Amino acid sequence: MSSSRSGLQFLIVIHFGAMNEPSGNRPIKASREIEGARAPVNLERRIRQHVIGPVHGWFAACTPGLEPVLLAQARTIGLADAAAIQGGVTFVGRLGDGHRANLHLRVANRVWMRIGAFSARAPEDVYREAHGLPWEALLPAGIPVRVQATTANSRLFGSGMLGRPLLDAIVRRLRSLGLSVPPLDSDERIVDEDADEIEEGLTRQILLARLDSNRLELSLDSSGQLLHRRGFRISHGGAPLRETLAAGILMAAGYDGSSTLVDAMCGSGTFAVEAASIARGLPPGRARGFMFQRWPSYREPAFNHLRRQTEGEVRARAGHPILSRDNGTPVLDIARRHAKAAGVFGDITFENNDFFQAPAPVGPAGLVVLNPPYGLRLSTGSDDPVAFYRQVGTRLLEVWKGWKCAVVAPSPATANALGLRENGRLQIANGGLRVIVVLARC
Ligand SMILES: C[S@@+](CC[C@H](N)C(=O)[O-])C[C@H]1O[C@@H](n2cnc3c(N)ncnc32)[C@H](O)[C@@H]1O
Repeated sequence: MSSSRSGLQFLIVIHFGAMNEPSGNRPIKASREIEGARAPVNLERRIRQHVIGPVHGWFAACTPGLEPVLLAQARTIGLADAAAIQGGVTFVGRLGDGHRANLHLRVANRVWMRIGAFSARAPEDVYREAHGLPWEALLPAGIPVRVQATTANSRLFGSGMLGRPLLDAIVRRLRSLGLSVPPLDSDERIVDEDADEIEEGLTRQILLARLDSNRLELSLDSSGQLLHRRGFRISHGGAPLRETLAAGILMAAGYDGSSTLVDAMCGSGTFAVEAASIARGLPPGRARGFMFQRWPSYREPAFNHLRRQTEGEVRARAGHPILSRDNGTPVLDIARRHAKAAGVFGDITFENNDFFQAPAPVGPAGLVVLNPPYGLRLSTGSDDPVAFYRQVGTRLLEVWKGWKCAVVAPSPATANALGLRENGRLQIANGGLRVIVVLARC
């Protein structure tokens, strides 16, 4: 038995013979049969039977460290049997629940639908079991499918043993139904499992094959582009936080829109925009598309209904102040444009001031968040990050007494230098860097 862990990717492009126009948002007609199939196949019936009808297992993936926050939100939006595991949250539900998860989960990176799990000790097992899955009802027409495979503690590894039989099974099943499949793309790349997730956008349908202890689990990506891409970021102001991380930090700090929020070093305004979305109950996925909209099972009227239900719960304005401050004028302009694009400009007050000079706002204490630059340069001219964080901590204790705070720090030494009475810490990956988020009361 091999104890190695490895990752591989394979790409195939599947063209459905009778459906090679992108399905886009168009539902497939109920009576449609696949032209050219040796035995006519009622595709619609298969879609209902295998995809629309059953309850599926789902996995919402998040940045490790944010699982408890994701779990709390999954429960709030009513996802059934939600449970946190390493790297995300599992739940069960029908397609509509997967749609809700994509639309509403603020912290999830991707939502996977589990489509099969079986024992795989030999390539023949992979082929036989995978051939039995209803790929014709699952895979989107006209979109390349990328198999992303990982193996651990298993007999099978590498493309020949796992990827090939899997792809062969898909291709042969589709061909047997009269669906044309072009040759496999021979481009195979090793996945760096430590790197950030691969950005495939809506141009790739990712099929995840996870083999662990000789059990193969297959999942389809229902999201498309990673979910931190909300669809309204226009320009990067320096080093923006991912929206999913900003939302996760706010929620971990207890922000729910019922108190004042200040981002004292706002850059492109990610915290403020996410805070306004939370305060108003705006779905994070409101301005973007999803891979499930390309699936043969997608029904536009049902998804529109879900969106309309959501609109009924949105508040017209945030109920408490949200301040976005920075000492750089150009970056504040980016933050303003970002907020306008997100439809929350009226909820945020933008202020050009310096954290080390400006007072806390008048009124009840709330939450102050800080994501300082990591390439640090003090007003004194020193570039010692530990000294900078000590200065930040001192300022928080002097000027922000009674406020809750969340500060992103690039290392244990800088986090400790804050000198705050901590309620907890988050350890998360931000753009390839492991950062510490200190949660405290000043
Ligand atoms: C890492 S960026 C923040 C990125 C932001 N979280 C986002 O998502 O775009 C740090 C920001 O802190 C601002 N900054 C640095 N020192 C500051 C100070 N003393 N007062 C106010 N803002 C400051 C910089 O202008 C920069 O925009």
